[in-house]
Amino acid sequence: MPLVYKTLTAQHAESWQALRFEGARDFPLGFLVTEGEAAAVSIERCREILNNGTLRGVFDETKLVGFCGFRREPLERTRHRAQIGPFFVAQDYQGCGAAQTMMQGAIEEARSNGIEQLELFVDTENHRAIAFYERQGFERVATHPDVTRIEGKRRDDYFYRLKIGD
Ligand SMILES: CC(C)(COP(=O)(O)OP(=O)(O)OC[C@H]1O[C@@H](n2cnc3c(N)ncnc32)[C@H](O)[C@@H]1OP(=O)(O)O)[C@@H](O)C(=O)NCCC(=O)NCCS
Repeated sequence: MPLVYKTLTAQHAESWQALRFEGARDFPLGFLVTEGEAAAVSIERCREILNNGTLRGVFDETKLVGFCGFRREPLERTRHRAQIGPFFVAQDYQGCGAAQTMMQGAIEEARSNGIEQLELFVDTENHRAIAFYERQGFERVATHPDVTRIEGKRRDDYFYRLKIGD
């Protein structure tokens, strides 16, 4: 399958809006945003968000099938780090390598820009995502308590990092 990693821009707004809504609706443990909050974001706001340059996508030829946040820390003392997330692949494309293409794309992009540490948070009960991140080489560093409240329940995240440099 010709899967390709690239930066998302305003021209991807419609497909990104639909995919983000699908993710928030179907995988509440994988998103901070709720289904209702995702549905309320206008297409103009989606274009603005995408024009920030902080989202990457994985494409099956021209079809957007997954996306992730990629945010480099801006300060001199922190710019060796970048945050990954959200990280989502459409259900039809899970288990087929699309997630790996996207993560490897992010790792290559980080490496070629001198970023030495990728960081992410994942719900402690998001077992599939945890298995995926650990297979990509991420190591668990800490537990972040009470990160989300879903249906009245306090939920914790794990904090993971991937060392890219020495
Ligand atoms: C997280 C995500 C991107 C991973 O992509 P994927 O294509 O599903 O990942 P893969 O199939 O390559 O790897 C998942 C691994 O979890 C395993 N797995 C599947 N279901 C599982 C479960 N319920 N519990 C534990 N492991 C599970 C798979 O067997 C696979 O492991 P393996 O490669 O050793 O066999 C994707 O599942 C997704 O978009 N999930 C919804 C959004 C989300 O939760 N994102 C994470 C936010 S932090």
